[in-house]
Amino acid sequence: MRIMLAPMEGVLDFQMRKIMTTVFAYDRCVTEFIRVTNGVYPDKVFLKSCPELLTGGKTDSGIPVYVQLLGSDLPSMAANAKRAVELGAVGIDINFGCPAKTVNRHGGGSALLRTPAAVHDIVAAVRETVDPSIPVTAKIRLGFDHSDSLLEIATGVERSGASELCVHARTRSDGYKPPAHWAEVKKVRSELKIPVIINGEIWRAADAGNARDDSECIDIMLGRGALAMPDLANQISADVNSTECQALEWQEVLVLVEALLATAVNIPAKYAGNRTKQWLSYLLRQYPGARELFSSIKRLQEIDVMSAEIERHRRLASL
Ligand SMILES: Cc1cc2nc3c(=O)[nH]c(=O)nc-3n(C[C@H](O)[C@H](O)[C@H](O)COP(=O)(O)O)c2cc1C
Repeated sequence: MRIMLAPMEGVLDFQMRKIMTTVFAYDRCVTEFIRVTNGVYPDKVFLKSCPELLTGGKTDSGIPVYVQLLGSDLPSMAANAKRAVELGAVGIDINFGCPAKTVNRHGGGSALLRTPAAVHDIVAAVRETVDPSIPVTAKIRLGFDHSDSLLEIATGVERSGASELCVHARTRSDGYKPPAHWAEVKKVRSELKIPVIINGEIWRAADAGNARDDSECIDIMLGRGALAMPDLANQISADVNSTECQALEWQEVLVLVEALLATAVNIPAKYAGNRTKQWLSYLLRQYPGARELFSSIKRLQEIDVMSAEIERHRRLASL
C-alpha cells in the first residue's frame, strides 16, 4: 500500500507539506493546482507553488512532490508541464476534480469530466511533451453530476499514457458531502492496468480499510483526514501491518502547530495567523484541545502573542 498526501489549494502549501512529511513518509505529495490558461508561466510561478523544485523536487524529508496543473488548453498545458519538468518537477499531476465555479466556467477542473475525450486529449498532450522518464498522473472525481462516464474517462486516462489515476469518489455535484462512494471505483480498478488510488472521506484507519475493500484499490490518498489527524497515515500503516502505533498526543501536535506559525514571520500581521487558525479548524475534529486553542487565538493577530498562547496550551496539556 502506498499513501499519498492530497493536493489542497490554500491549505497544503510548501510549509504544510514540509511539516506533514516529517510525521509520515508519504509516498508522494502534490502541489496546490497551478491554473493554466494561455501561455507559459514565468519560473517564479512554479517555484512559488513548488519551492521543492529547488531541492530536487522533494520535501526536506525526501518525499517527491508532483506539480499539479489545471486547465484545458492543450498547447498551454503541455508547455507548462514541460517547463515545470525543466525546472525539476519529478512528476506532473493533472486536476480534473476542482469544483470551483470560476474554474469550471472556464472549462477547467471537474467541468472536463463532462467530455471524456477532452480529459484524454489533455493527458495525452502533456504525456507526449514531457520527458518519458517523468510520470504524468491524473486526478478525477466520479463525474460531473453523475458517474455514468467514469469508466470511459478512466480508460481514456490510461490510453493517454498516464502512469496512475487518483479517483476522489464523489461527483462534482456531491461536493464534499459524505459519503464518498468508494465502491464505484471498483469497476475502474478492475478495468485498468495502471494503479488506481482511492481518495475521499478517509478520517480514521478503519475508513482506509473500508475504502480499500470497497474499491479494491491498494493505494490511498489522504486530504482533510491527514490535517485533522496528522499521524493518520501512521495509524493506517500500522493497521495494515498489524503493528502497534502510539497516537500522536495533543501536546506533540502543538509542536507542529507552532512550527507552522513560526513560518509566518514575514507575512503581514493581518494574515500571519490565518494558516494556523485554518489548521486548527481541521484539528478540532479530532482533538478537543484544538477547539479551546482556536477560541483563544481566533481574534489574535500578533504572532508572538499567538505563539505564547500555543505554548501555554502545550504546558497545560503536558501536566
Ligand atoms: C480546501 C481544499 C482544497 C483542495 N484543493 C485541491 C487542489 O488544489 N487540487 C486537487 O486535485 N484537489 C484539491 N482538493 C481535493 C482534495 O485533494 C481531495 O480530493 C478531497 O478533499 C477529498 O479527499 P479527503 O476527503 O481526504 O479530504 C481540495 C480539497 C479541499 C477541501
